[in-house]
Parts: sequence; structure tokens; C-alpha cells
Amino acid sequence: MAKNETNKSSYISASESRRITRFNRRVTRKLEQERANANKDPVLYTTKMANPGNVVEFDNVCTYFFTDVGTVKAVDGVSFEVPIGKTVGVVGESGCGKSVTSLSLMQLLQRPSGQTVGGEIRFNLGDGTAYNIVNTPNTIMETIRGNKISMIFQEPMTALNPVFRIGEQVDEVTLLHNPEMSKDDAKARTLEMLELVGIANREGVYNMYPHELSGGMRQRICIAIALACSPTLIIADEPTTALDVTIQAQILDLLQNLKNKLNSSIMLITHDLGVVAGMADYVVVMYAGRVVEKGTAEDIFHHPAHPYTIGLMRSKPVVGKKVEALYNIPGSVPNPVEMPNYCYFRDRCEMQCGHCAGQYPPEIRISDTHIVSCYRFLEEGSVLGYPKSVNVEEL
Ligand SMILES: Nc1ncnc2c1ncn2[C@@H]1O[C@H](COP(=O)(O)OP(=O)(O)OP(=O)(O)O)[C@@H](O)[C@H]1O
Ligand code: SF4
Ligand SMILES: [Mg+2]
Repeated sequence: MAKNETNKSSYISASESRRITRFNRRVTRKLEQERANANKDPVLYTTKMANPGNVVEFDNVCTYFFTDVGTVKAVDGVSFEVPIGKTVGVVGESGCGKSVTSLSLMQLLQRPSGQTVGGEIRFNLGDGTAYNIVNTPNTIMETIRGNKISMIFQEPMTALNPVFRIGEQVDEVTLLHNPEMSKDDAKARTLEMLELVGIANREGVYNMYPHELSGGMRQRICIAIALACSPTLIIADEPTTALDVTIQAQILDLLQNLKNKLNSSIMLITHDLGVVAGMADYVVVMYAGRVVEKGTAEDIFHHPAHPYTIGLMRSKPVVGKKVEALYNIPGSVPNPVEMPNYCYFRDRCEMQCGHCAGQYPPEIRISDTHIVSCYRFLEEGSVLGYPKSVNVEEL
């Protein structure tokens, strides 16, 4: 990109801006066309799980945004899986690609600028086959969203429609996915769900508007909506960030209990390590659009290996431990439009070794369950492979 060397990230000339706009228009049009073609034939979106014990497998997923300042590689070669009946915590600082990963799975990206340009997202249909969500047509996605995969959002006030009563909003989801159901049956199901999520005055709340409820109550309603169709996967994107600590604990307990009752899996997205520690079976740590470490909760919390994860652990307050100031990882995340061709964490890393000057580190297995992308483990672990990025100039 022809930019002023001294102000690389912010200055774009008029001609460069025109070039980017032309490029974005050409690429997004081509990708939309390819998607429409892939949508036509079930062979192109039906696949098999690598491991039938997983509900979802992200395999080198690349989701990019074609913006006016260049291509933002929001998710770039992300691979991890969510096993059936388990909770997987996805952690990382703001902007690392957690939400974009889940939106790619729901096909709710802001298109045409947001596109999954590479990799597969396999969703287990439970009959030996799977959908590759990347190519699945919208008509099929409509039967999956809210039915097989549902999402609980961060802000319960904006997730609910302020002009409809609570009952109507929960009924709507049930009726949408069960058109044969009568309105009375849907209401009975809604009241059942309200009781399940711990709403005491369920008949009263059924007739209330969202503004009449507290934040914790609203989040319980959002959980009721998400669970109305007994989904196989619940995506909870920062489900407790807007709530007080005591309510947080209640909501997380509720989510965990319901998950066990329905035998669902949870993909729990958060930047709060405390939330993950209390709930997750597996943890995926993301940094700048890539997975830098993944393993069981025990691996990540008791044996963190990546310098970024170690930094995150050090910056977590510990009850009973007095410190002058909490640890702060030095430096900042690289510019998402111009990622370096070496380890994305190198400019902030205090543990560099000789190999770190080279290309982006590969995934290295350091135990049966624990995988890390860091050169410090090159000798002791086994190399699995490099994350696959897509060269947008070749699209
Ligand atoms: N519609 C969009 N257009 C352009 N860039 C986007 C868009 N949505 C997300 N991004 C970029 O993608 C990157 C990842 O964003 P994402 O929302 O996944 O972050 P996150 O990890 O969920 O952060 P947070 O913890 O703040 O929710 C960010 O750099 C963000 O600016
Ligand atoms: S690869 Fe090197 S620079 Fe990157 S996190 Fe590991 S030690 Fe640090
Ligand atoms: Mg987010």
C-alpha cells in the first residue's frame, strides 16, 4: 500500500482510496457470486465431521472485512472445536476476533463487506453428516439459527424489542421454529421456559415490557428465548458483562444447569477469565485474529504456555493477594489492516527466543490436550502446522 512511511496506519491518498474501493467491489461481488453457486448444490455444503464427538469444528477459518482503509483480517486461520455437551471458553482482549468467529458460525456477518474467505466451519447434524456453514444457503441457515444454534448477546436491553411484551417475544421464537404449534401451546411452552430460567411471577412477567424488568431478569428472558427450541449449541457472547457480580454468578449457574439438562454445548465468549475459570471445560485464547493457545481449563489456568496467556493470568486480580498495581501487558495489538509477517505478539513479548525473528509460529502440541503457537516450545513439542491465511490479492 502506497502510504507515507512516517504515518503508515492513518494516511491514505485519494488514488489509494479509489484503488481500495474498486478492489473491494470486485472481490466482494466475486465472493457473493461464488457463495450463490456453492449454495445451489448440497454436495458443496454437506461434509463430515473430523470427529463425530464435536458439535462444531472451526478449521482454518478466515473471515475478513473489506473496508475503506483496507482488508481487516478479523479472523485469520482459526481452528478449534466444541465437543458435544462441553463448554468451550473463548478469551482474548477486545478486537481479537471472538465475536466475528461466532458471527461467522451463525452467518450473521455484515455482508457484503464481511466475508468468510477460507476454511470450513463444520456443524454436526447428528446423522453422520455435517454442514459446512461457510457455503450453507440462507434458507437452511434459517432452520439452524435459533433452533439448533442459538445466541445470547451481551446487552439484554438491546437484545429484546422494547415495544413487544416478553411473552410475545418468547412465543415468536417457538412458533417460528414449530409452525404446527397452536398459540396456546406456545404460551404454555413460554411459561415453562420462564419458570426454568427462574422467573418467579411468570404469568405477570409474560405480560410485561422489557423496561419493566431488571438487567438480570432481562438476561434470564434472553436465555429463555435462546433455549426455547433446545439448541444443540448455545453461543453466549459476553453474557454477564452488563450485570453485577452476584447476578453474574446466578446467570452463569443457570446457564450451566440448563446446558446439562438439555445436553447442549456452550461456546462462551468473554474477556473475563474468572467467568471462564468457573464454567469452561476447554479454553481457546485468541490474539489479533488467531488462536495462540488452546487446551483444557486446567492446562490454560495452571500451565499457561503462551506469553500472552501468561500475561493475561498475571493481570488478573487474585483475592487475598496485595499488589501495588495490577500487571499490564506492555505495548498494543498490531494494526489489523497490516499484520506483521512474524509472531503477532513479538513486539510485546518479554520471552523471545532465537526463532522469533522468523515467520509466524506454527501450532505446537505440548500435551495430549494442550496446543500453543509459540517458538519457545519448538524443541519439546510436536509441530502440527501453520495457520492458513488467504492472500486477498489472489482472490
Ligand atoms: N463490520 C465490521 N467492519 C469492519 N471491521 C470489523 C467489523 N466487525 C468487526 N470488525 C473488526 O474485526 C476485529 C474483531 O472484532 P470482534 O468484534 O470479533 O472483536 P471481539 O474479540 O469480539 O472484541 P470485544 O471483546 O470488544 O467484543 C476488530 O478489529 C474489529 O474492528
Ligand atoms: S513466538 Fe516468540 S515472540 Fe511470539 S510469543 Fe512466543 S516467544 Fe514471544
Ligand atoms: Mg465481541
